[in-house]
Amino acid sequence: MNRTHNNGELRLGNVGEEVALLGWVANKRNLGSLLFIDLRDSTGIVQLVSDHPSDFPDVKSEYVVAVKGTVRKKEVPNRNLPTGEIEVEIAELKVINEASLPPFIIADKTDALEDTRLKYRYLDLRRPKMLNNLKIRAQICAIFRDYLNQKGFLEVETPILNLSSPEGARDYLVPSRIKHGSFYALPQSPQLWKQLLMVGGVERYYQVAKCFRDEDLRSDRQPEFTQLDLETSFLDQDQLLSLNEGFLARLFKEVVGYEVKLPLRRIKYWDAMDTYGSDKPDTRYGLELFDLKPLIYPSLFSGMNERSLVRAIKIPGQGKATSRKVLDELNLEARKFGLKGLFSLKVENGELAGSFAKFLSDPQKADLMNQLGLIEDDLILFAASADQREVDFGLGAIRTWFSKKLNLVKPGTYDLLWVVDFPMFDPIEGEAGRYTAEHHPFTRPKDEDLAKLDANPEEVLAYAYDIIINGYEAGGGTLRIYDRATQWKIFRLLGLSDEDVKNKFGWFVDAFSYGTPPHGGLAYGLERLSMILAGTENIRDVVAFPKNLLAGDPLSHAPTPVDPEQLEMLGIEIKKED
Ligand code: AMO
Repeated sequence: MNRTHNNGELRLGNVGEEVALLGWVANKRNLGSLLFIDLRDSTGIVQLVSDHPSDFPDVKSEYVVAVKGTVRKKEVPNRNLPTGEIEVEIAELKVINEASLPPFIIADKTDALEDTRLKYRYLDLRRPKMLNNLKIRAQICAIFRDYLNQKGFLEVETPILNLSSPEGARDYLVPSRIKHGSFYALPQSPQLWKQLLMVGGVERYYQVAKCFRDEDLRSDRQPEFTQLDLETSFLDQDQLLSLNEGFLARLFKEVVGYEVKLPLRRIKYWDAMDTYGSDKPDTRYGLELFDLKPLIYPSLFSGMNERSLVRAIKIPGQGKATSRKVLDELNLEARKFGLKGLFSLKVENGELAGSFAKFLSDPQKADLMNQLGLIEDDLILFAASADQREVDFGLGAIRTWFSKKLNLVKPGTYDLLWVVDFPMFDPIEGEAGRYTAEHHPFTRPKDEDLAKLDANPEEVLAYAYDIIINGYEAGGGTLRIYDRATQWKIFRLLGLSDEDVKNKFGWFVDAFSYGTPPHGGLAYGLERLSMILAGTENIRDVVAFPKNLLAGDPLSHAPTPVDPEQLEMLGIEIKKED
């Protein structure tokens, strides 16, 4: 079964050579006097040809075959295939294994339902596009490892069976057989371990780390995913970001041939929110948010008051196209972010119309037209709320909606930037003075904001940064607190009592009293990087065996009930559903 060449690598330079090839029959056409077979292996497809088909055994789609033949120049090249300038004239053809009729056609273009593709994932992976996605994913890991190895980082594995801590997303739990009633949690990230590695003097750590989060799934989330995780000691934020920029530049150059301009742009969290309505802005198109309050004040609506922020977005040429029905859909979108709804203004026959026009006086209308430079068919959508995140996020969603509708993003273009200076805390809605940590409780507040911790925690910013690529949060990290006094202050602000801290993090916080170096790190989502570089919006396209939207595996059918004996051994009884 020795092959002389990989199918996808044959070129004009091989013309005249005798070759032995292996692979799957991707396509066969028998025209009676002429036989064509497309032969696929993991490197690509090559066309086989014979003008005496009856000399060879009959083959069908997905049969595994071995072929010997001679490479010759094709009279009419096939521009769609890298091997399209040559073909192989068959001398011998042997069937190695037959195949049942596949449930869908195995080609890049397929109309198979995703659930069918997931059920037969091993066939889906034979589609060149899918295999290429896996290759991109592997290339990203290889570059990550190589880049950090060269910089003196040490690859360290951290535990998969962990203590459960009810922070962040829900944990996946694993029952203990030896200690009935007790559970391990699968890691949501190696966060605490990598910090302990810094206490342990490792200084430069990385890991390609499996992470598990039991959260609601979206097109860019999987319950199990992989982080390219790193942590360093003694680097400040600039040094850390610049180290990561070196990796990103190399990654984009090697995988897609794109020259990333360094240093990357940095946008402060509140600027990103106010301008793009997002903490992960795609800045490849405009539609920026602006403040409308000064222009319509004092025509405040019943839904607005003195404290309301009134923010708007102008969409040129969309006045007529945005019917009642479309507005209803946009309102639904805005409500997801807590807004009561959107107001609209549009220019119709040179005049301002729309749901808000009746609240404006004629001079106000003229002023608006002038100041915003409005022209015929412009549309203004706006919203009001006293909650800055609510109004920004709500309009940000509208901005994204229009960018998709109007195809504002050119495929194959890249936009990389850092969002920095995240707030340290997120106020808990309806509970004055109570907060959750925007990142995690070990994030270090900015030195210049430490003094605000007591009086104005909401204004405290953190050494926290996300790497945003094409509007995706491709990674994120923080510098960490390394002194006990600040750490305890943060715990207090998060409403954790001494008892809580001791129970949840005692084992971790104790380590910090033994000489902790200043440290910080970052984790990339490997799937997000792979999606961006593979040019897909579906995270399942870059995972070999992904879970579906119900967190199930259509191939193996996991999760399933288990044997009563297994439960017995674990001391677990299943409560009957009503
Ligand atoms: P964070 O929670 O921001 O940070 O996660 C880091 C990156 O992991 C990716 N990611 C996911 N990808 C796919 N599916 C998911 N469910 C999912 N959740 C997260 C994202 C995200 O940017 N320990 C910190 C990092 C640090 O501070 O060093 C952490 O886990 O791309």
